[in-house]
Amino acid sequence: MSPTPQAVYLNGEWCTSDSACVSVFDRGYLFGDGVYEVIPAFAGRLFGLDEHMARLSRSLEALGIVPPLKHDDWLAIFERLLASTDAPDAAIYLQVTRGAPAKRDHAWPDASVRPGVMATVSPIGAIDGGARVITLPDERWGRCDIKSINLLPNTMARQQAVEQGCDEAVLVRDGLVMEGAATNLFAVVGGRLLTAPNGPRILPGITRGLLLDLVRRKRLMELDESFISIGALREADEVFLTSSTKDIWPVVEIDGEPVGAGEHAGRAGPITRLLDRHFQALKTRRSDP
Ligand code: PDD
Repeated sequence: MSPTPQAVYLNGEWCTSDSACVSVFDRGYLFGDGVYEVIPAFAGRLFGLDEHMARLSRSLEALGIVPPLKHDDWLAIFERLLASTDAPDAAIYLQVTRGAPAKRDHAWPDASVRPGVMATVSPIGAIDGGARVITLPDERWGRCDIKSINLLPNTMARQQAVEQGCDEAVLVRDGLVMEGAATNLFAVVGGRLLTAPNGPRILPGITRGLLLDLVRRKRLMELDESFISIGALREADEVFLTSSTKDIWPVVEIDGEPVGAGEHAGRAGPITRLLDRHFQALKTRRSDP
């Protein structure tokens, strides 16, 4: 049975996923020349909207793409998409490309070519158990802070993880842990929470940022935004991943070895569970009408 067609916003029109058509000259399609966002909505309410829209603006600016819509226009699109789904928790996917000029050319088209805009919605499924991860060399470019649709190294890394029966690939550069293929990474070492610093080597994850704010505001524990060596990761007491569709996702195994020691080995540890409780409470607070 083919899946039910989804509502799609495409270049100013509403259509469905089985009828939406994109030009073969769209630069997203030809070059991966565009940016995207994934914005979660819990119980029908968008979570972290301002943070996601601010990151979208930064990504567009970094690529020199003129913002195609104003905040309220985006909001109207998101609300119509959310109304089109029965899923209690859903993720808005939006992307903006540099548009479709008349012919393929690496150099950018002039300003008369309007950006391509697309948005859809899909359910967020519940997560079943902890994540098993593999480590791989980070083969991405030097501007991982831009949320570009050009995700070939990320998809190749995730695919390798899946082929090894795992959930995520953790990307390592010069012996230091950057992030997952589509997640940020945190480690608990000796009671301190470590995560890679924002900069060109990682995506400034919205979940990451909200969690760091929460830990600081509530003084939950000592924080250290600095790179973790792969050796320290393997010895960490607890490890977890974050993303807009996965919240806080405990890592239970790295390259076939259990994370942590003693009674928590290979299971979500107490600090991960504590942080998750605080994060779930934040989600509920922010989603209150
Ligand atoms: N991925 N790092 C990378 C490389 C990512 O692609 C993502 C998100 C994150 C987490 O960011 P956030 O907390 O803002 O979701 C970190 C999205 C969900 C995706 O590509 O589907």
